Amino acid sequence: MNLKEKCTILEFNDLGDERGKLVVIEGNESIPFEIKRVFYIYGSDETVVRGKHANRESEFVLINVAGTSKVRITDGKDEFVVELNKPMMGVYIPKMVWKDMYDFSSDSVLLVLASTHYDGKEYIRDYKEYLKLVK
Ligand code: TYD
Repeated sequence: MNLKEKCTILEFNDLGDERGKLVVIEGNESIPFEIKRVFYIYGSDETVVRGKHANRESEFVLINVAGTSKVRITDGKDEFVVELNKPMMGVYIPKMVWKDMYDFSSDSVLLVLASTHYDGKEYIRDYKEYLKLVK
């Protein structure tokens, strides 16, 4: 499976009606893991690059619930960019995949669902080290 096939673009159902939109995400159903952690990033802008890491253990789903951002995804060999611009879409990022989030709109709220509790030790933040590990 190539990188793009591994990092699935997820389209969530919109259960909205005339009262507004509703998107539901259930662990192991609409995304491929049980959710252990949720965090969100806002107040970033187009000058900022976040992420810049890969994770030994964690899987993630990234969703812009408001505004837009981009995520550059690489495995050290292939690379592609996903624009997150709809609350009903997300991108799945498996273990040991490098990601950079950037180009945040001023109203961007980037929701991240994670398969693990936080453990700083499982983060690989040095790209050279990452390249050695994936070789
Ligand atoms: P960081 O990993 O740099 O954020 P991002 O990947 O979005 O750029 O995290 C910033 C700080 O927050 C860092 O000190 C670690 C801490 N942090 C936690 O304590 N728990 C978490 O779940 C996350 C994502 C970060």
